[in-house]
Amino acid sequence: MAEISLHQLRKTYGKVTAIKDLSLEIREGEFLVLLGPSGCGKTTTLRAIAGLETLDEGRILIGSRDVTPLPPGQRGIAMVFQSYAVFPHMRVYDNIVFGLRMRKLPDEEQRRRAAEAADLLQIGDLLDRYPAQLSGGQRQRVAVARAIVMRPDVLLMDEPLSNLDALLRLHMRAELKRLHRELRSTTVYVTHDQVEALSLGDRIALMKDGEIVQVDTPGAIYDRPATRFVGSFIGSPPMNFLQGTLRRRNGGLVVETAGAGIPLAAGGAPPAADGGDGSVLLGIRPEHIEALSAPAAGSVAARVVVLEPIGPQNLLTVQVGSELLKVTAPADFQADAGEQVWLRLDPARIRLMDPQSGRALRA
Ligand SMILES: Nc1ncnc2c1ncn2[C@@H]1O[C@H](COP(=O)(O)OP(=O)(O)OP(=O)(O)O)[C@@H](O)[C@H]1O
Ligand SMILES: [Mg+2]
Repeated sequence: MAEISLHQLRKTYGKVTAIKDLSLEIREGEFLVLLGPSGCGKTTTLRAIAGLETLDEGRILIGSRDVTPLPPGQRGIAMVFQSYAVFPHMRVYDNIVFGLRMRKLPDEEQRRRAAEAADLLQIGDLLDRYPAQLSGGQRQRVAVARAIVMRPDVLLMDEPLSNLDALLRLHMRAELKRLHRELRSTTVYVTHDQVEALSLGDRIALMKDGEIVQVDTPGAIYDRPATRFVGSFIGSPPMNFLQGTLRRRNGGLVVETAGAGIPLAAGGAPPAADGGDGSVLLGIRPEHIEALSAPAAGSVAARVVVLEPIGPQNLLTVQVGSELLKVTAPADFQADAGEQVWLRLDPARIRLMDPQSGRALRA
């Protein structure tokens, strides 16, 4: 086990800046998820930790060692690549124990670890096959098995579940979480799937355009997004946003929008928005809006666009002024398209952002 410190990493490919001034402290034994859209620099960051990329600038420490000048083999890491490279000329079993053989572990220990990993990844009946005789998802699991048998200080995984079907993915997600609790290897896990990130991460580092936008626990990043981008990237459906103006009314604060005054939670100084004209962006998640069939104090009128039953709930798309919002309603809530409803937003769950920069405004 070891902590990892990334200090102001910068990597360019010609004119493309893949990562810029990226700093991050990963704790010993932590499961850290690097999350972000395609091309934001996740793989580059992971490969930099592994020592597979030469940085333009920056330093990387693993434990207390500065590993920046060290080759991959001397960093105490094991990596599962996005392209799940396995040795084509070796059977599955030999692929899995390859690193253990290099380390000259006793045969008995090799067999024990391989059996355990194969069992975990449900590839026990494939050990005699060659990679060419496997499906993509099976090959990916061999790559994961090969990394975990090493019991590395640092385990780096780049989208290791991307080629699995939905059910197996769900299963493997839970298994990886269990495995991490057992091994406690410091793990950096790359994905663009926010559900996977929320489920697996002790913390999530959300990246955009080569930079880290927010690092937080899944709960905090979901509940208190640092920017509009974070609120829109995390959550399905994502956070809703409404343009409005912050006003004082009857001693309390409201956001005026679409002819209504949406009350904010009492207490705390009014947040300072840029520009000083009181314009704000109000963010709220679909499950923190209640749809009502009659108006109530502080509610906003909306028109139903579509109602989608999604099993345990109904998902409503409604129009407020010129904007569309998603609202989760109980499965027995019924409304036809075109019908008027009223929305009550939970004041404790409303987040205000600066409309220009998209940054969260804190009281
Ligand atoms: N060898 C390379 N040469 C030139 N540009 C590269 C190279 N590798 C990556 N890039 C660019 O650097 C940026 C970051 O790439 P990276 O592979 O780190 O993204 P990613 O977040 O892993 O994306 P994905 O989710 O699609 O895997 C992209 O714009 C990519 O096109
Ligand atoms: Mg990638």
